[in-house]
Amino acid sequence: MEIIHFSAECYPVAKVGGLGDVVGALPKYQNKLGHVAKVVMPAYSNKFLYENEFEVVYDGWVRLGNHNLQARIFRERTNKLGFDLFLVHIAGLLDREKVYGYDDDTERFLAFQIAALDWIAQWEHKPNVIHCHDHHTGLIPFMIGNCHQYRHLNYIPTVLTIHNAQYQGQFGWDKLYYLPPYDLRNSNKLDWGNAINPLASAIKCAWRVTTVSPSYLEEISYQANGLEGLLFQEKGKSAGILNGIDNDVWNPKSDPMLKKGFTNKTVESGKKANKEALCDVFNLDKTKPLYTFIGRLVGEKGADLLPDIFYNALQQSDGELNILVLGSGDPHVEDRLNELTHQFPGFYNAYIGYNEALSHQIYAGADFLLMPSRVEPCGLNQMYALRYGTIPIVRRIGGLKDTVIDIGDGGFGICHDQTNVWDVGHAIGRAYELYLDQKKLKEIRKFIMNLDHSWDRAAQQYIDLYSM
Ligand code: ADP
Ligand code: GLC
Repeated sequence: MEIIHFSAECYPVAKVGGLGDVVGALPKYQNKLGHVAKVVMPAYSNKFLYENEFEVVYDGWVRLGNHNLQARIFRERTNKLGFDLFLVHIAGLLDREKVYGYDDDTERFLAFQIAALDWIAQWEHKPNVIHCHDHHTGLIPFMIGNCHQYRHLNYIPTVLTIHNAQYQGQFGWDKLYYLPPYDLRNSNKLDWGNAINPLASAIKCAWRVTTVSPSYLEEISYQANGLEGLLFQEKGKSAGILNGIDNDVWNPKSDPMLKKGFTNKTVESGKKANKEALCDVFNLDKTKPLYTFIGRLVGEKGADLLPDIFYNALQQSDGELNILVLGSGDPHVEDRLNELTHQFPGFYNAYIGYNEALSHQIYAGADFLLMPSRVEPCGLNQMYALRYGTIPIVRRIGGLKDTVIDIGDGGFGICHDQTNVWDVGHAIGRAYELYLDQKKLKEIRKFIMNLDHSWDRAAQQYIDLYSM
């Protein structure tokens, strides 16, 4: 089966969050199963583009409203990612360093989708499935089904995976003229709340819709940033497939970013060496438990509460625990997290920014990872933590609920029900108690490193879904 994944992110080409991890892994595991999975994404002007070799497979123009823009598609030559990678270059729009955050993101991702479809429309053979990820590729199902110029692609089944329904990519009807011509009687398939809504359109037009965990599929019927009704209505064609993790990249035994590699047999000495290295760099106390948070500093992740949560924990524990934060996002939260460094020197530190290697080192060196998310469609951090012997402290929501079982229920993590200062504070206290019970802590570390969250299972589940 030939599957084309369309995405804005793909690790290691360009990653902002978990979407990148998923699109960098799922196709590889689908290929391992004997299929042909490919990735098509924008060509950002980043390190990956400059440090790798490409051949041009398409050279043309993309029409965006009144503009004709030069469009080129590059194929990575070596296939080193485990799948064919195609990068769509559009002069003046996509050739910038960052993935998102520009005023013309609407134009950028529209031009990307149109150029990619123009190219596929020229292929002699047609892929079996087109798999779109999130709203940046959400107009593809509509365009394939409705735009005159793609009429012959019409029969290709399209799948939408919703990684996060909070972000929908809406734009005004005044930009309708960007879209290639279609029968205007079908405009309702683009509309949601009197705007063109790419995520809503994909939910309406895709053949199948998936969410990245079964619990999130349940939750979006009542919490989906305005799309609840639509998602409820389309539930019949929807499925929740839990993400996996790429065990080649996230392997504590061979991870080149770690101070010292380890397995579940050497977990104690391995974690100790990695923790000591972190504590040296960040001026923390290596004899005390190390709690961490890694992620985007946004409301969804409960990041606005972190400064108060950490202040309380550090104040009350009186030097009995350490906290290390890695993240970036809301500037106000960043400032408050930085301020704590001056209040609790020797026990608290924060790295504000994005640092892939440091994230691996923290998963390896920390004792506990906090995820007090308000919304968590899947969450990969908790699965990386488990694989690196770090105990997750999570809110029971979305994918966190599907992957972490509380120690009180015979499980291996610490779970709490709400995202508030008190619940999370209580969970931090329970983790501290567990830390004092070193025998149990060691048993749990050994156990969680052996849990299987690899992509093998989920890659097959997607194939089964395409084959239905
Ligand atoms: P989301 O995609 O919602 O941000 P996920 O848990 O699915 O959350 O995935 C987050 C991914 O991004 C993980 O690979 C995590 O390690 C990584 N990550 C998040 N913030 C940072 C950061 N500041 N530095 C390095 N990696 C980060
Ligand atoms: C989104 C979600 C996150 C999920 C990731 C990968 O970014 O917020 O929960 O793990 O996508 O599917």
